[in-house]
Formats: sequence, structure tokens, C-alpha cells
Amino acid sequence: MVTRILTDPREVRRACEEARLRGDSVGFVPTIGSLHEGHLSLAREAKLRRSFVLAWVFVNPIQFGPNEDLARYPRDLDGDARKLASVGADAVFAPDASDMYPDGDDTRVRVGSLAAPLEGARRPGHFEGVATVVAKLFGIVGPCAAFFGRKDYQQLLVVRRMARDLFFPVVVVGHPTVREPDGLAMSSRNMYLSPDERASAVAIVRGLDAAARAFAAGERRAPVLSREALETIALAATSVDYVEVRDADTLQPIDAVADRAAVLVACRFGSTRLIDNLVLGEDAPPLAR
Ligand code: PAJ
Repeated sequence: MVTRILTDPREVRRACEEARLRGDSVGFVPTIGSLHEGHLSLAREAKLRRSFVLAWVFVNPIQFGPNEDLARYPRDLDGDARKLASVGADAVFAPDASDMYPDGDDTRVRVGSLAAPLEGARRPGHFEGVATVVAKLFGIVGPCAAFFGRKDYQQLLVVRRMARDLFFPVVVVGHPTVREPDGLAMSSRNMYLSPDERASAVAIVRGLDAAARAFAAGERRAPVLSREALETIALAATSVDYVEVRDADTLQPIDAVADRAAVLVACRFGSTRLIDNLVLGEDAPPLAR
């Protein structure tokens, strides 16, 4: 089975317009490629909820910082298209950089307070790059449901806010994090881990699990909950960028958790930087007992 591969934004706009004219609903799944089960689960969910599913595979240069892994980011469009076809995607949009950023391209989406802390503070320009490319995509695809993973929790909030603020006719759907059998969140970056680092990386999910269990046992003090997670993670990680408990909607710091709050983690194993999160009061502890 081969999915239609489109490269020209005008072709994609036409395909989506034709789908809607036929009475199809459009589901949109943007990715950087090198697809794993987490991405495919987004595409499957899109196909369950929408009749015409378009995936996007593009390594977006403007969201990578100068010292990040743009050049070594793995690329396998044929393999990705096959995987997408196997879960029912109808078309793949795989443009060249010059299709997304033609000569003279000169507009960027400035993102606000949701994009400032956490990943935004460590990766200057990252969310502006994400929001800009996603705004272009929403402009091309038109009315649709767009599926984003909760794995990149801050990205999901930034994109949802942007879609509302700019009145895009897009419903942004958040999809649960897909994990390996031992709990590690699936990520294209996991392949860079050595066997030892891969074994140590489970500490992330153990830390999140510890915070979730403390919350379930009644703990509501944010610093205590974040310390629960940090102590487990810091024992195994090469370095920790942050482990924080924040308001789940605004990402602002909090002292105590009312109904729900996000625990957000970024740390390194060797040179590989991994992120993960959990929403207390919403997500169950990720490790089964
Ligand atoms: P990428 O890292 O390829 O991720 C594409 C989508 O898959 C994102 O919405 C991400 O949250 C989701 N995803 C990744 N791993 C997941 C997992 N283990 N479980 C569930 N969902 C998962 O995020 C990007 O690309 C880019 O920034 C993009 C939005 C495409 C803009 O370039």
C-alpha cells in the first residue's frame, strides 16, 4: 500500500478542499519524520476520528537551534510513508525547505508567556519556529482536527493557544504519550542512547511515577512533589535541566496543587536530551505495580 506523497502546498490545499467537498472530515498529523509508534498512534487516532488523514513529514530547520541535532536528525521518507499507509493515512505532505520557506519568506509568529519558560528558556526561538511552521500548515490545510502528542506538553499548549488567538479553523487534539513497555516515552532521540543510557533513562518515568503516587497519597505541595521526581531522576541522569511542577494550563510556577498540575522534566543521558511529563490529577501513575 502506498500513500499519496505531495510536496507542493497548493496541491495539498486542493486535496484538502476536495476531501471536504466530498463530505470527508480532515485529520492532520504534523511530524518531523523518523516515525515511531507514538507518531503512528496519533495517525491511527486521527483516522478513527476523521475520514481523510493527511500527515506532514518535514524537518523544520527554523525550530532547531545552532547547537541542536538538525544535521543528524534521521530521515527516511519512504519508510515513513509506508508506516503511515499501514495505519490508514490518505496522503503525506513532504515539502522541501524551499516550499515552506520560499525566497523572501519574512514572517514569524511571536509566541507569548506559554512559550517563555521550560523548553522556551532553554531553546531560544524553538517555539517561534514551531508556531510559525504550524501556522503555515494550518493556512494550507484549512478546517481540520490537528493531532499533537501530550509528550510535548508545552508545544501542545503553545499550538492550541496560537490556533485560538489567530482564529485558525482548527481543533487541536492532544493525544496521550505512548510509552515503551518499561515506561520510557517513545522518542526519535531514544535511538541515540547507548544500552547503559537506555537502561538509566527509565529513571525519568520512575520519577514521574513517584510524584504521581505522592499526589495520589494526598501530597499537594508543589516543591515536595517535584523533589519526589527529581531525587529519582538525578540519581541516574547525566544532568538535569529541570524537574518542575507547574500550572497545567498556564505553565506558571505554583506553590500548591489544587485539582491538577503538570510535572515537566528535561534531562540528559550522555549527550541525548530527553523530555517527558505527566499531569497530576489527570494521568494515572505511569508504572503498573
Ligand atoms: P515530532 O517530534 O516528530 O512529533 C510529532 C508529533 O508526535 C508531536 O505532536 C509529538 O508530541 C508527537 N509524539 C512524539 N512522541 C510521542 C509519544 N511517545 N507519544 C505520543 N505522541 C508523541 O513535534 C514535532 O515533531 C514538531 O515540533 C512539529 C509539531 C511537527 C513541528 O515541526
